[in-house]
Amino acid sequence: MNSKNFQDLVRSSRTHRRFAEDELLCHGDLVALVNAARFAPSGNNMQVLRFHIVSEPAERSAVFPRLHWAALLRDWNGPAVGERPAGYIAICAPKAVAANPICLIDTGIAAQTIALAAASRDLGCCIIKSFDPDVNDVMGVSAEGYVTELVLALGVRGERVVLETSEGEHGLAYWRDAEGTHHVPKLPLEDLLI
Ligand SMILES: Cc1cc2nc3c(=O)[nH]c(=O)nc-3n(C[C@H](O)[C@H](O)[C@H](O)COP(=O)(O)O)c2cc1C
Repeated sequence: MNSKNFQDLVRSSRTHRRFAEDELLCHGDLVALVNAARFAPSGNNMQVLRFHIVSEPAERSAVFPRLHWAALLRDWNGPAVGERPAGYIAICAPKAVAANPICLIDTGIAAQTIALAAASRDLGCCIIKSFDPDVNDVMGVSAEGYVTELVLALGVRGERVVLETSEGEHGLAYWRDAEGTHHVPKLPLEDLLI
C-alpha cells in the first residue's frame, strides 16, 4: 500500500451508524477483524486486552438497546430495525487494570486498528464508549473477570458519510442533512500543528 492509498483508507474509515442489517456478518468475518488488532502495539507488549464477538441474533438483540448513539443528533434515537449492526466486537480489559491509562491507550489503538480493517473491507464501524454497564453481564465478560472498554458496532454500510472542513456553520459538530447524508467536520491541518 502506498501513502495515497493509506490516506484514502483513513479518510474512508468514518463512523457509520446505519447499516444494511440484512447483509449478515458471520462470526469469522468479525474474528478476521480481531486478527488485525492482534498485531497492534501495546504498552510493554503486555497484550492484556481480550475481544468478545457478538454475531448471534439473540445476543445482538440484547446488546443493541444498551448502546447510546450519536449524542449530537438529538432527534435521532439510533438505528431503526433494518439499519442495525450485523455484529459487535467488545474490547475488554481485565478488571484489575481496566482504569490504567496504558490499558486505555491500548484499547484506542486496538479500536482504530479494527476500524481500519473494517474500512479496508468497505464495512462500516462505530466505536461506542457510551453504553449501559450491564452490557458486561449480557455478554458474559464480567463472569470472566473482564470489563468492556469499548463496543465496536459493525456491518455493511447503510448510510452516506462525508468529510467537510470545520469552518462551516456547524463547527466541530457532526450533523445530518435533509437527504440523510451524515457530515463530519475536521479541523484544517494548520490548526493541528503547535
Ligand atoms: C473514544 C470514542 C468514543 C465514542 N463513543 C461513541 C458513542 O458512545 N456513541 C456514538 O454514536 N459514537 C461514538 N463515537 C464516534 C464519534 O462520535 C465519531 O468518531 C466522531 O463523530 C467523528 O466521526 P468520524 O469517526 O467519522 O471521524 C466514539 C468515538 C470515539 C473515538
